[in-house]
Amino acid sequence: MTDAARPCVIAGNWKMYKTIDQALSFLDIILPVAPKCDCEVLLAVPFTIIESAAKKAEASPVLIGAQNMNDASEGAFTGEVAASMLKDAGAKFVLLGHSERRTIFKETDEFINRKIKRASEIGLLSVLCVGETNEEREGEKTREVLKQQLSKCLEGVKYEKGKLMVAYEPVWAIGTGKAATNTIAEEAHAFIRGVLRELYGEEVANGMPILYGGSVNASNAATFLKEPDVDGLLIGSASLGAESFAKILELRQNRANT
Ligand code: PGA
Repeated sequence: MTDAARPCVIAGNWKMYKTIDQALSFLDIILPVAPKCDCEVLLAVPFTIIESAAKKAEASPVLIGAQNMNDASEGAFTGEVAASMLKDAGAKFVLLGHSERRTIFKETDEFINRKIKRASEIGLLSVLCVGETNEEREGEKTREVLKQQLSKCLEGVKYEKGKLMVAYEPVWAIGTGKAATNTIAEEAHAFIRGVLRELYGEEVANGMPILYGGSVNASNAATFLKEPDVDGLLIGSASLGAESFAKILELRQNRANT
């Protein structure tokens, strides 16, 4: 069970999928389900969808956010988007350091660190993604990698309540259909919480949600959520279908509202 001090968070990451119309139809199904759940619902959508989705979700508990941003406040960076622009479009949060950004677009911990600082200056919640590759796990380097990613990405980042979360996403589990086991996830989450304790102290570490991501679906979601340090989920492909995402949300149905 999730610690009462921490909210449960169910987040979807749509990656480069969906048009505005498809997103609005998805919300037609999800918006009535979300208020019945005792969890925060986040949807990281493509830039083009943020404004219309945020308007539609305005009076609901669903938060719309982005999947990336640039660290600069503005400037001659063709094709990039600034934190202030995300906020202007209605985004409440941003995913930072996703492994696809790190691997395909060669983002470094230092770059991610600057982005987190910029997001926090603008008032956006940062969801920092960390995780080891298969090679690193097999080489017994998981803890080292997680510690390095967390300490570099969070270096000099002042903690502000509600403005930072961590998602543990082992790279080998993302989009592969091979989710981590709940035991592997719990072990990594407890380790991550320990690093957060070193960085921010007991109270902050105990209050910060840590989400698990990597091949989560409606059939395995519950096994992760029952672990003490797994406070929520970051879901890729199973967040694209409104029905499968609704099924996951329903795991956290608050009986008082049903
Ligand atoms: P997946 O993606 O659920 O499709 O594995 C997770 C993610 O990339 O955040």
